[in-house]
Amino acid sequence: LNIITAESYETLSKMASQFIIDEVNSKPNATIGMATGGTPLQMYQLLQEDYKQNGTSYCNVTTFNLDEYVGLAKDNPNSYYQYMKKHLFNHIDIEQNNVFIPNGESKDLVEECNLYERYLLEKGPIDIQILGLGSNGHIGFNEPGTPFSSKTHVVELTDSTRKANARYFDNLDQVPTHAITMGIDTIMRAKKILLLVSGKNKSNAYEQLLHGKISEQFPVSVLRNHPSVHIIADMSSLESVT
Ligand code: F6R
Repeated sequence: LNIITAESYETLSKMASQFIIDEVNSKPNATIGMATGGTPLQMYQLLQEDYKQNGTSYCNVTTFNLDEYVGLAKDNPNSYYQYMKKHLFNHIDIEQNNVFIPNGESKDLVEECNLYERYLLEKGPIDIQILGLGSNGHIGFNEPGTPFSSKTHVVELTDSTRKANARYFDNLDQVPTHAITMGIDTIMRAKKILLLVSGKNKSNAYEQLLHGKISEQFPVSVLRNHPSVHIIADMSSLESVT
């Protein structure tokens, strides 16, 4: 694991956006794995600014999102489809045809997962996969206990994940109970992984990632088996991590 410490969330965001910009500059047709949630928000903002100022082009870039809720309409503001449009895609020159996000409205969710894996095989491998860290060690929506061999699949969200995400919804009842997520094996096929860690509630998970054992009970620990992982940690937010 290549651990990069950042003294603030802003520094983390700058470093993360630079990582992506460098990748796109060196490989204009790169395939990038996208994450949603709170942590990458400022990174996306900085990518927008870079696009405006420096014209970094995404017209040959392909993106694959990690996950999507099941049962939310595409135009629901809480769908990850809308998140990506609002925070990045509406502001850069990416081609709609090159954007892949699991379809959580599909009538046949198993078929949708298989299709997503097929697209990944066709267009992949992902050159760089962005990840956030769940406070229980989840990556994507792969909750503790998910087999390391898992491919894109439907998951039932844990109470802790639904509660953590309830901040974006009117109330807990509106948070979907299921999602489609890339599996652990899907994520591990990326050539490079960029894990962003920020937030007081991530301190324990971060500590366990650095010092704990590799176990399916703690999904992010699998990254220790990957040859090219970069972790950017916002030290201002992490408590008593050694
Ligand atoms: C998002 C995702 C999740 C988040 C994680 C951290 O696409 O797959 O694993 O990365 O829950 O979320 P934040 O950044 O909101 O703390």
